[in-house]
Amino acid sequence: MFASLLRYCFSFRLFLVAFCVGVVFFSTSAPAWAIDSYIRRYIAKEPVAVKYTDAGETKTYTPEEFTKGKELFKENCIYCHVGGSTAQDPRVTLSTEDLAGATPPRDSVVAIADYMRNPMTYDGSDISIWCRQVDWLSQADLEILGAFVLRAAEKSPGWGRPVENSF
Ligand code: HEC
Repeated sequence: MFASLLRYCFSFRLFLVAFCVGVVFFSTSAPAWAIDSYIRRYIAKEPVAVKYTDAGETKTYTPEEFTKGKELFKENCIYCHVGGSTAQDPRVTLSTEDLAGATPPRDSVVAIADYMRNPMTYDGSDISIWCRQVDWLSQADLEILGAFVLRAAEKSPGWGRPVENSF
């Protein structure tokens, strides 16, 4: 009787210790959760430089900023641009190659932010009737969105390929 009570107390104390260790572990590692697992795996584990202007200046973005960029992409762009492809016109994707080949080139953060305020056709000759003109996001948010697109175009497997060919 006494022995089993002792055993019970001991295992309960062990449980308490394990519980406390768990709480401390999870609360100290919490900041890592703020970074999306896709971002950590494919986009950035640490701050990385992204092409900022057409002239080749770069700007550094953190994994947290890329996480926000991914959320903005999901909220505003993904219906038409799943995985960086373009549903309505598979020739004009969000791949680095297509972005760089547009007139004017769109393979920099500032160029993508400008494009979103005023989307144009691929040769720059006319207003695009398709892509979404964005007037509800701040310049800062548009730039974070642009940085995510550019980094995804470089790092995300299959980015920009038509969806039916990605299997
Ligand atoms: C309703 C569908 C639709 C939505 C929503 C949409 N796009 Fe587009 N987007 C297109 C189409 C179609 C094109 C090709 C347009 C053309 O060439 O006229 C395009 C073109 C682009 C291009 C130029 C690609 C290149 O290679 O030159 C960029 C950059 C772009 N979209 C980014 C975005 C971003 C960022 C968002 C979210 C804020 C977004 N788009 C939302 C349909 C859409």
